[in-house]
Amino acid sequence: MRIFNLCLIFFFVFLSSAAAFSPKVGVNYGTLGNNLPKPSKSVELIKSLKAGRVKLYNPDPEILKALNGTNIQVSIMVPNEIISNISTNQTMANEWVHKNLVAYYPHTLIRYLLVGNEILSLMGEADKKTWHDLVPAMRKLQYALKIHGIRKVKVGTTMAMDVLESSFPPSNGTFRSDIAVSVMRPLLQFLNNTKSFFFIDCYPYFAWSQNYQSISLDYALFKGGVTYKDPVSKLTYTNLLDQMLDSVHFAMKKLGYPDIRIWIAETGWPNGGDIDQIGANVYNAATYNRNLVQRLNAKPLVGTPAMPGVVLPTFIFALFNENQKGGQGTERHWGLFYPTEAHVYPIDLTGETDLASYPALPKPKNNEPYKGKIWCVVAEAKGANMTALGDAVTYACGQGNGTCAAIQPKGLCYNPKSLIYHANYAFSSYWAQFKSQGATCFFNGLAVQTTKDPSHGKCKYPSVTLS
Ligand SMILES: *[C@@H]1O[C@H](CO)[C@@H](O)[C@H](O)[C@H]1NC(C)=O
Ligand SMILES: *[C@@H]1O[C@H](CO)[C@@H](O)[C@H](O)[C@H]1NC(C)=O
Ligand SMILES: *[C@@H]1O[C@H](CO)[C@@H](O)[C@H](O)[C@H]1NC(C)=O
Ligand SMILES: *[C@@H]1O[C@H](CO)[C@@H](O)[C@H](O)[C@H]1NC(C)=O
Ligand SMILES: *[C@@H]1O[C@H](CO)[C@@H](O)[C@H](O)[C@H]1NC(C)=O
Ligand SMILES: *[C@@H]1O[C@H](CO)[C@@H](O)[C@H](O)[C@H]1NC(C)=O
Ligand SMILES: *[C@@H]1O[C@H](CO)[C@@H](O)[C@H](O)[C@H]1NC(C)=O
Repeated sequence: MRIFNLCLIFFFVFLSSAAAFSPKVGVNYGTLGNNLPKPSKSVELIKSLKAGRVKLYNPDPEILKALNGTNIQVSIMVPNEIISNISTNQTMANEWVHKNLVAYYPHTLIRYLLVGNEILSLMGEADKKTWHDLVPAMRKLQYALKIHGIRKVKVGTTMAMDVLESSFPPSNGTFRSDIAVSVMRPLLQFLNNTKSFFFIDCYPYFAWSQNYQSISLDYALFKGGVTYKDPVSKLTYTNLLDQMLDSVHFAMKKLGYPDIRIWIAETGWPNGGDIDQIGANVYNAATYNRNLVQRLNAKPLVGTPAMPGVVLPTFIFALFNENQKGGQGTERHWGLFYPTEAHVYPIDLTGETDLASYPALPKPKNNEPYKGKIWCVVAEAKGANMTALGDAVTYACGQGNGTCAAIQPKGLCYNPKSLIYHANYAFSSYWAQFKSQGATCFFNGLAVQTTKDPSHGKCKYPSVTLS
């Protein structure tokens, strides 16, 4: 009996440490869409992916209840806006933890409490003040967990790759000088002391799409055949993700923390995007995410060249294509599922499905940059919200000088005197003028890029020309 008990104890110790270190790929459940399935249905979809974990961008009560009783580990997030207040107010930290975590714990397996989302990437003056409140807020939340007797929840914060001022070669990875000493050092100390993780949003897609002439797409998609040798560390890389992760590792090492575990808080590949965006398609998205999942689950674990054999816990971005995200078209196309609940491409996050058994996907058409003219026009003329469209035209025409001269009375594009025609002109003119300054062709979903010239008669529409 005694021996049996001992065995049981060992068994449990083994099980729990194995569970803590399991790669179990998870998914980011973003909710910036007005057409997304209900939380209960979404949780079913998460299960169908065989995801082991889910990351939420806020402590949504309905979602946390839908996860009650599942074996999916959950990460919740403290909103950026309350970090500063929490940093000086233990009562507020306690209340936040009580209301948003304890209320669902332990039936909902909340395991990670992320304090803010990429706040070190926000560059406004008010935001910069928040940088220095981050670690104090994390300490208060850690203490709040302690007084609630909760030991299983790790406190962290998500960062983007722009916390580095240098990431190439990987061995040259260095944190930005404006945060290295004042924020990163205390942050790393906190993470090390609490045995938490460095949560990093890491997107080879962005690194590749901004440098597609110098970085091979195959290297970004884990296709093999391309290698890069770091001239200083002498480590050899076979894919872009490892290279990026190691640059984070080397940056931490420079500050004296080589052993903090890295957690990929977001990664993925867009399944679609705008005409002027390269490489965003279903084929590449499926290739990236499937290869990633196989690599993360490989037995024995591979880790990265600088961190061989380590577990790289990961949340793929994202569960759904989210139609209310602003910015370029790719922003609305990161999902594993469409809002209709249909998968964009099948994927099994345990990596157990043989890649060859997935059905063939359509070959990508935009792996080379588009060359030619693009206009920006009304997305759906039929049933368009005329009030919203009118407001958007007023906005577009209010930027710059003469943006809309051609649609004024006597202008060459005044006729036909139709809001749709005028909006097509205003959007095209605005975008052609301001694209170089970062303007997008979106207008809250009212506008879309087209390669079909909307010009008519003597009325010529301004275009963006890519060469
Ligand atoms: C944070 O604190 C400021 C100043 O004490 C207060 O005005 C504000 O309402 C607080 N914000 C929140 C979200 O509690
Ligand atoms: C701290 O937070 C609590 C709860 O939100 C609030 O009642 C209190 O006024 C705050 N204290 C200060 C000094 O802002
Ligand atoms: C979670 O489920 C358990 C067991 O069914 C139940 O006792 C508990 O009240 C539920 N929690 C919430 C927050 O709904
Ligand atoms: C290494 O990083 C520094 C900045 O931290 C940068 O100035 C330098 O150019 C980088 N070295 C290489 C070889 O890119
Ligand atoms: C980080 O934590 C480890 C293990 O707890 C400890 O041995 C090490 O000294 C810590 N590093 C620093 C720089 O504090
Ligand atoms: C149309 O747009 C206006 C202004 O943006 C908005 O207030 C209104 O709710 C919209 N109507 C519909 C039916 O969506
Ligand atoms: C429009 O032109 C005027 C006069 O040339 C100039 O002062 C103004 O800054 C311009 N406005 C914009 C938004 O370009």
